[in-house]
Amino acid sequence: MPKNKVQSLAVIGDPISHSLSPAMQNAAIQKLKAPYRFRAIRVHPEQLARFLKGPAQKLAGFNVTLPHKEAIVPLLDRLAYEAKLIGAVNTVLRRGDEWIGFNTDGAGYLMSLQADRQFSPRGKRVVILGAGGAARALAVALALAHAKSITVANRTVKRAEQLAKELSFRLRGTPLRAIPLGGAKLEAALRDCHLLINTTRVGLGGSSFQDFPWTKLRRGALVSDIVYSPRVTPFLKAARRRGHPIHTGEGMLVFQGALAFEIWSGLKPDVRLMRRELLRRLRERELRDKSKDRGKRSAPRGRRKK
Ligand code: ATR
Repeated sequence: MPKNKVQSLAVIGDPISHSLSPAMQNAAIQKLKAPYRFRAIRVHPEQLARFLKGPAQKLAGFNVTLPHKEAIVPLLDRLAYEAKLIGAVNTVLRRGDEWIGFNTDGAGYLMSLQADRQFSPRGKRVVILGAGGAARALAVALALAHAKSITVANRTVKRAEQLAKELSFRLRGTPLRAIPLGGAKLEAALRDCHLLINTTRVGLGGSSFQDFPWTKLRRGALVSDIVYSPRVTPFLKAARRRGHPIHTGEGMLVFQGALAFEIWSGLKPDVRLMRRELLRRLRERELRDKSKDRGKRSAPRGRRKK
């Protein structure tokens, strides 16, 4: 391929129009004056295999988001170590005729913990709320980074048990255990905990946990949420009110994207610029949503006046 030919990168998902990855990645690409462009492509679940054989052939690589992160695994030629352990892929690289799957979510999360809060998980006791795909990526990364223990608390305990069982077998250095998302076991885990992470859907759209046992959480524990809109979720607000340091979710999005860009291009993007662009877009979106809400609330009043 000629050196200066612009290569295409993308993020695929369904839905995808909300994705802020193109804005974030294109800002970094522009700053580097690198020969890439990044766009969002909607791929329906039943068209994933066809996408790989067709339109993907024009791409140098792409990010994968919901609902394809697990479904794409058997369609790829090779998997990097973390992607194999996590059982999900968020970054795909084309090398020759092969598609190689990576997962930068967990490593991106750890980089954000380090860059934003100077927090290293080595020797630390971690409690993860939730046992879905995100929890799994974080548990793998934290175990590989030598966390002392990982406790997964989930509403459906069976799901947490399954995750702990599978990963314990492969990650023998860090004990993993499963508990319910409430009650004495959660309280005991919180008493010992250095890092508490919310990976559940609670917090999306501003919802919050009812009756979370905040008084039991170890003093000074870092509280983290992977939801990035709102940036300071009700969960993080509650933690901050109780004097805990907090770690917001946008850092994980920025660093997973930066790591993906490095995999595709070999270049280090400006992560500060990526974060600024992401936060600017998030603020714009929040303002738009607020004014839409105001519009909705004022419309009926207007009609009543008539
Ligand atoms: P992701 O890939 O983002 O992790 P997921 O795999 O759908 O998403 O997992 C969502 C997680 O949020 C699960 O742990 C889920 O708990 P269940 O396994 O019991 O379903 C958790 N979750 C979703 N809504 C919740 C709620 N209202 N209260 C507590 N946990 C919730």
